[in-house]
Amino acid sequence: MTETPVTTIEVVFAGAEIQSRIRALAEDIRDANLDKLIVIPILKGSFVFAADLLRALHAVGVRPEVDFLTLSSYGRGTMSSGVVSVTRDIDLDVEGRPVLLVDDILESGRTLAYAKDLLTARGASKVLTCVLLDKATRRRAVDISADFKAFDCPDVFVVGYGMDLAYRYRELPFVGRVVMGE
Ligand code: IMP
Ligand code: MG
Repeated sequence: MTETPVTTIEVVFAGAEIQSRIRALAEDIRDANLDKLIVIPILKGSFVFAADLLRALHAVGVRPEVDFLTLSSYGRGTMSSGVVSVTRDIDLDVEGRPVLLVDDILESGRTLAYAKDLLTARGASKVLTCVLLDKATRRRAVDISADFKAFDCPDVFVVGYGMDLAYRYRELPFVGRVVMGE
């Protein structure tokens, strides 16, 4: 018998768990005393995380300027590919200022390393990184680690909380893995 496969999403990190880690991250970022901070979420995957993190930063008294950098990686399915390029650049001048890059997942490290190099070359006084999920370091292709991270992530493809699979599941309030049923 042929039936349409049932797709279910198994929770990996629950919404409440994520929010409580974000509150702790916001305190850590505040304690880093980054004067004249510019926060730059890397779109698209980080948009939900960044929205919650920015509000948590506000709650602990951090008043950053915010701009957005859209990057894309060539030819990716569910695996990181390699070549990173700028799809939409920031407008702000980062020269002499500390920058906090916000991304959803650190995997091969190519995306964050690219963004870090770009902003360093433009004269940012310091470029720090904050990620929701840090995947197994065996996938790392570039020597980079996150300055702030919410969770170590199991080596599975995850969706939700901003992250997608073919443009779907971004709206989920938790991080989950896709399980294909029979
Ligand atoms: P990296 O350049 O290999 O570090 O790739 C990081 C980027 O790949 C993340 O910002 C995500 O956009 C994407 N990515 C990696 N793993 C996943 C996943 O499990 N789900 C959704 N996106 C992912
Ligand atoms: Mg991304």
